[in-house]
Amino acid sequence: MKEVKLEITVYEADGIHELQEADAALLKEATAATKQSYAPYSKFNVGAAVLMENGEIIYGSNQENAAYPSGLCAERVALFYANSHFPNVPVKAIAVNSAVNGKDNDDPVFPCGDCRQVLLECENRFGKPIKVIMGGVKNIKIVKGVKDLLPLSFVLK
Ligand code: THU
Repeated sequence: MKEVKLEITVYEADGIHELQEADAALLKEATAATKQSYAPYSKFNVGAAVLMENGEIIYGSNQENAAYPSGLCAERVALFYANSHFPNVPVKAIAVNSAVNGKDNDDPVFPCGDCRQVLLECENRFGKPIKVIMGGVKNIKIVKGVKDLLPLSFVLK
């Protein structure tokens, strides 16, 4: 047996001012989407903005439910909407941000495992990498493709 080290690449910024203009704009849209969140149980408001290859931007926010598992994360709300309305249009990028009590969080929000799996499916489906921009007021992390978020991922063979 041998040890194998896997490498992922993550870009980090200290604020939105360090981002490329298009990434900053998408992150701002995600931040705005936190206001549409319905999160009376966790009080953790998440917003997502998906940029499609046709220039369309789709918004999502987390939608919770008294039966907790029935709720859905912002990323999947946005992605499923995007894929159901534009089934033939690849997704270029997704930005995600979070807020508590109307205040944007300093640290980035990272997609949960289920969202990573759904993002990966979307990337594989169109054969194009999806940039993931994860905000943070004071810290932003970016990966250029979902495989950097989910190495050793499950695919049906
Ligand atoms: N949540 C998201 O919407 N996206 C994430 O990336 C992490 C978690 C939501 C799910 C739930 O409504 C709340 O945040 C607390 O977990």
